[in-house]
Amino acid sequence: MANTKNFAADFPALNQQVNGNRLVYLDSAATSMRPQSVLDAAVDFYSTKGANPHRGVYKMAEEATAAYENSRAAVASYLSIDTDELIFTRNASESLNIVMYSYALDALKPGDSIVIPVSEHHSNLVPWQRAAARTGATLEYLYVDRVTGAISDDELERKITSKTKIVAFAHVSNVLGVLFPIEKLIARAKAVGAVTVLDCAQTIAHMPLDLHALDVDFAAFSGHKMYAPMGIGGLYGKRELLARMEPFLFGGDMIEYVREQDTTFAPAPQKFEAGTQNAGGAVALAAAIDYIKAIGWDILEAREAALMRRLVAGLNGLKDVTVIGDSNPDAPRYGVVAFNLRDVHSHDVASILDSYGIAIRAGQHCAAPLMDYLQLPFKSSCRASLALYNTEEDVDRLLECLPLVRGKMGYGD
Ligand SMILES: Cc1ncc(COP(=O)(O)O)c(C=O)c1O
Repeated sequence: MANTKNFAADFPALNQQVNGNRLVYLDSAATSMRPQSVLDAAVDFYSTKGANPHRGVYKMAEEATAAYENSRAAVASYLSIDTDELIFTRNASESLNIVMYSYALDALKPGDSIVIPVSEHHSNLVPWQRAAARTGATLEYLYVDRVTGAISDDELERKITSKTKIVAFAHVSNVLGVLFPIEKLIARAKAVGAVTVLDCAQTIAHMPLDLHALDVDFAAFSGHKMYAPMGIGGLYGKRELLARMEPFLFGGDMIEYVREQDTTFAPAPQKFEAGTQNAGGAVALAAAIDYIKAIGWDILEAREAALMRRLVAGLNGLKDVTVIGDSNPDAPRYGVVAFNLRDVHSHDVASILDSYGIAIRAGQHCAAPLMDYLQLPFKSSCRASLALYNTEEDVDRLLECLPLVRGKMGYGD
């Protein structure tokens, strides 16, 4: 592996025994753990600042405002966007709902279409179902190749047409794990004048992102999948789109003038940040970015790629295990690999692995239409996901314990 430092030592939650075994945490795609520096940043905010940003004129309030806005600048720089294009939200789901409520409901009319890949997480699927139901637009699916996850040119051209007003897609599916051809999707959407919505929940911690260079219109992410606390996330929106959009939540701190019967709104991003925000979370998110940057993308990407190759190759070598989607260990895979064990429900696999201290995800992964499309047994799968703190020992422990599961279930062979 390119770098052998064990980053796990920085993450207090990883330093524990589970069922008498060392915890092997392989569920970072659901949520990643937080390093001590991130926990310290949140404690420091509440211990020393703790006042409500954007409200008071006293020193503590001004320090809280500066901490909150400096965090916005840090996140904006991480994504290569401008600060007024970054709205702090609770998570990717809320970010996508803002696009739905504040953009889509006004932009769509009967006869229009919204297009998404069938592999989308419910957070980037259910809001579009609701938008279609409320506006009379249709929701169309791009059917990905069941093995490689690729979307054919023919599929893109047939589905993304002059009727299409919104194309929403994940950068990496939380089940298939392989990088989507998002440049192709973006180019096709632009060719028909559709707005693009990128869900980068699964790439935000695994690769550098330059949203201006990608030229998407909106992008959504969660802090808790990038070593920050739960309850803080973000929405990127192009300045001209944010300027035209009606706010989604109304109340304090998002206004310019309020009279008895009408209100004018503050410019973005404040327009979309009604009420007291998760300032401690924003500060901790900036600390998570500092942590990632201190390691550096070269080291981080090389480590994760090497581990992923080891994991996928190892799964391929196990009897009775089927990798979902692309089983090529060299496929451009980020963070996750889903698999099934012959005749065993994923929940049983996960429970038995838990008895060895191994935490993996099992079930539908909030992607029920994909489970149907892939015709997976029990409509479910196991999923192992990696982060910068995982090691070869973690991967090997999974590969060593997985073959024990069928025996525990009573299968003789
Ligand atoms: C691809 C993808 N999009 C969206 C989400 C939703 O994230 P959150 O629950 O933080 O809103 C997830 C969470 O697993 C995800 O994997």
